[in-house]
Amino acid sequence: MKALVVGNWKMHDTIAQAVQLVDGLLAVVDQFPDTVDVAIAPPFTALQAVSERLRGQSRIALGAQTMHWEDAGPFTGEISPPMLKDLGVGYVIIGHSERRAFCAETDETVNKKAHAALKHAITPIIAVGESLDEKSAGQTKTKVVMQTHAALRDLTSNQIRQIVLAYEPIWAIGTGRSDDPRNADSTMQEIRSANAELQDVRILYGGSVKPQNMAGYAAMPNIDGALVGGASLAADSFAAIVRAAAPR
Ligand code: 13P
Repeated sequence: MKALVVGNWKMHDTIAQAVQLVDGLLAVVDQFPDTVDVAIAPPFTALQAVSERLRGQSRIALGAQTMHWEDAGPFTGEISPPMLKDLGVGYVIIGHSERRAFCAETDETVNKKAHAALKHAITPIIAVGESLDEKSAGQTKTKVVMQTHAALRDLTSNQIRQIVLAYEPIWAIGTGRSDDPRNADSTMQEIRSANAELQDVRILYGGSVKPQNMAGYAAMPNIDGALVGGASLAADSFAAIVRAAAPR
């Protein structure tokens, strides 16, 4: 399967900083292996500027970090799927644990957003993951399989085949405590088994991915790339992760 590496810039970078970062990536884009797809998800405020920079090339795709599920309406502060399409957005991260924790994202809204993304031909990257308490209680697999089932509710087989999943253990995000690749692979195998249609769906690992540990994940049979936070904020470290993500 072709790998996918996505940079989730989270709430970082002004427009000028974002343009500098994307220009840094475009300068090294010819080092990206053909076996790896690449996407970056800047904050909403930088999407237009980054989209303009990415125009005319096909190596780096544009993603958003969330969206609303309705096309338009009285939802102050929200951004809709058609607005993202307008900007050339091809991927949207849905259900990131930070949005579940701080922005009232639930299994139900994740499912609505998955439907909306697919309706508008935006690829949803659906994030699941367990907390440290859940991990300690031995509930990792139950939790992520439940989240996956809830996210996929009422999607057709054909739609499920178009999504991307991201397994991000919450305790590994931004902590420098990345999951052991074999352990992550085993959890991701469980997620894959949750639904027959997930056999050929890409599942990304996320949580303290760095240039030094990416190859360990890429070597695992159920890990098809990475969702990268902190290390996606510098062109050299993100490019090194992309190079290390080539399937072997
Ligand atoms: P870090 O790579 O900074 O741990 O963040 C992971 C993440 O949350 C990506 O969505």
